[in-house]
Amino acid sequence: MQIDIQLLPIPPDPDSLSNRSVVVLDILRATSVIVHALSQGAKEFIPVLSVEEAFEKNKEFPPGTTFLGGEKDTQPIEGFDLGNSPREYVTEKIKDKKIILRTTNGTRAFHLVSPAKEVMVGSFFNVEATAERCLTLGWDLLIFPSGDEGCFSLEDTVCGGMIIDLALKKGRQDIVLTDASQAAHLLFKRFEHNLLEAFHLSHHGNVLIRLERGDDLPYCAQTNILSIVPIFREGVIRLID
Ligand code: MLT
Repeated sequence: MQIDIQLLPIPPDPDSLSNRSVVVLDILRATSVIVHALSQGAKEFIPVLSVEEAFEKNKEFPPGTTFLGGEKDTQPIEGFDLGNSPREYVTEKIKDKKIILRTTNGTRAFHLVSPAKEVMVGSFFNVEATAERCLTLGWDLLIFPSGDEGCFSLEDTVCGGMIIDLALKKGRQDIVLTDASQAAHLLFKRFEHNLLEAFHLSHHGNVLIRLERGDDLPYCAQTNILSIVPIFREGVIRLID
């Protein structure tokens, strides 16, 4: 089983995905939002690429069954019901709702990797469950950090490194790491005992702090609090039995 990680969010060659599973990561904050909201009873997520597409998609469903969520330039979007902080996505608000989500990097990432055999949603919340599912599938794996507007993302890569670390600890003898995976693993080891340090060094972590959304950093650093692994299939993210 080979584990690779895409250190920059460049569209992978679709043919290279057809025999691999993929884990999408956007720790600050899209995949943290998705994992958290589904654990709180949201029905499903539809990741879209633009604000316009979100409003159009919303027209396809009966009123009262959907919420629009996400961010533009890290800020809540006018006319949307929810922003992009996992702390907003609580049972009382979102139970049984279909959430149409638009974010800058995270929602785009799902569409870039859609030809994969299976696309999982990872975060620190469900990192161990995600590593276990990757091992159960046993297919070659691509970890796909959503990045930061086309650039490397420190917190996403550290989470990818943790998935690699867990896979090595729990896994079979035949795991092969690419050079990129070796690098992500070493990076995780550097921050293993203080994930928040990586969040505070990261560009997007600092943007959130500047915009007074810094409380999301420790929230998204919570590790192994959920055992669900959402799956993206045919344009929709949901929990699959
Ligand atoms: C994204 O998808 O780019 C992020 O989740 C942005 C954010 O939440 O600030």
